[in-house]
Amino acid sequence: MTCAIIRRNYSANINYRMKKTENQMLVIFGASGDLTARKLIPGLFNLYLAKQLPPNFVVLGASRSDLTDEAFRDRVVYKSPYLKEKLQKLGESEVKGFADKLFYMDLGKDYDTDYAPLRKRVESLKADHDTSGNIMYYLSTPPTLYETIAQNLSEAGMNTQNNGWKRLIVEKPFGYSLETARQLNKGLHKYFTEPQIYRIDHYLGKETVQNLLVTRFSNSIFEPLWNRNYIDHVEITNAESVGVEKRGGYYDKSGALRDMFQNHLLQIVSLVVMEPPIGDQPEEIRNEKVKALKSLRIMKDEQTLFDNTIRAQYVASEINGEKMNGYREEEGVDPNSTTETYAAIKFYADNWRWHGVPFYVRTAKRMPTKVTEVVIHFKAPHHQIFKDSGMQSKDNKLIIRIQPDEGILIKFGVKVPGQGFKVERANLDFYYSSLAETYVMEAYERLLLDAMQGDATLYARADEVEAAWEFVDPILDYWKNGKDVRMYGYAAGVWGPENADNLMNGFGFWRNPGENLADDPGYCVIC
Ligand code: BG6
Repeated sequence: MTCAIIRRNYSANINYRMKKTENQMLVIFGASGDLTARKLIPGLFNLYLAKQLPPNFVVLGASRSDLTDEAFRDRVVYKSPYLKEKLQKLGESEVKGFADKLFYMDLGKDYDTDYAPLRKRVESLKADHDTSGNIMYYLSTPPTLYETIAQNLSEAGMNTQNNGWKRLIVEKPFGYSLETARQLNKGLHKYFTEPQIYRIDHYLGKETVQNLLVTRFSNSIFEPLWNRNYIDHVEITNAESVGVEKRGGYYDKSGALRDMFQNHLLQIVSLVVMEPPIGDQPEEIRNEKVKALKSLRIMKDEQTLFDNTIRAQYVASEINGEKMNGYREEEGVDPNSTTETYAAIKFYADNWRWHGVPFYVRTAKRMPTKVTEVVIHFKAPHHQIFKDSGMQSKDNKLIIRIQPDEGILIKFGVKVPGQGFKVERANLDFYYSSLAETYVMEAYERLLLDAMQGDATLYARADEVEAAWEFVDPILDYWKNGKDVRMYGYAAGVWGPENADNLMNGFGFWRNPGENLADDPGYCVIC
């Protein structure tokens, strides 16, 4: 069953709220890095094509590479592999119109330097392009430089708001532990106030993640069931088919728990767990998310940590005749590394709504497919009338597919035609792709526009980030220093270590989803 009616009622530009975006300048620190070319510039380019950039707007890329404005434009626009397809479809003047808004400044050998020349350049661009004193600083550098850059901006008088607002967007990872996250918050707060700081988590920019809020709070059919009385357990899977690719050096110091779980997955958890906010104002939503994160039961003793956490690493395998490296053989990875590429955690939220409901959350690289989904498993009906129905273990499920094949699926029982009451499970589904006329914004595009408009709803607040670390820290500590910690192996291309189902203890098995939302779970290989 598909909800075709939505197709008719949807209007093309529903994604762009008609808020005003003031004239401004975007200064990107780390502009010669991969993120700028891969995500930021394509996001801005989409905004430009959708006429969402303010009339007077320029981007100043700043980093340590020796580039001219032209070379920068070549790198991130004209010769960018990330824009290649798009450029082929566009006229020269359209592309030039965008590229001409981009400028570059070489900061020299070090980010820790006098920013007076940078200030001079900013001022001359401001005068030439009439961008006003509004400036957004985007930190896309190694995190160790965040505070240094904030300090240098402050010393050059570039954080003052007497002539236009100043905002700071900070990339992940935000801290390496609770302690370092606290230090970073403190460090940034010396130079920028909390409302000026935008901590980016690109999962919050995904339509389907935001849709969790809408599914829950704009329908009356889910929220009454959204509690311990009707929900048996919650399962969240984030799987990637890729390995660590060229990021072995970074990943080996991070691992799955820091890289995905502490930020993206706990953000999703907070949206599932939170209480209804009073309204849609940023602080109202963020207050509820913080409360949700604070309600997660922190695992303290070794036995609890042993019973409720599993970590693993992918090992070499052969898929369709192709040899896949094991994690320890990847470039930049220590051959004796104990960094996890798979993490599965069972936990509880200690509050009125969720008392006793287990949450199972896992994330991993080198899985059979790329998929992220939230599965709400409902309890069986209190009283089973149809005893021979064959419905055992076929619970009602609400599956919220974050990516790919974005959509929502409800699994429910229907009668098999014929004598007696045999019940089969049917699908009621909705696909974003069925919204034929709708343009779905890329996560970075959406988040950049929000920050340009001063809307922090989809950005993490200081206390939110700290609450997430508070939950994760003891697990990291146990994995590092605990007595009986195990590191399991799984062949690249399978659904993790065999014993991961043990975590489910009485709650069945992980739903190993296929590439398509309606596929029934199973095993497959990376193609
Ligand atoms: C990043 C992680 O934050 O998210 C990567 O550092 C991961 O390791 C990526 O691959 C996944 O993002 P997405 O949007 O492709 O699911």
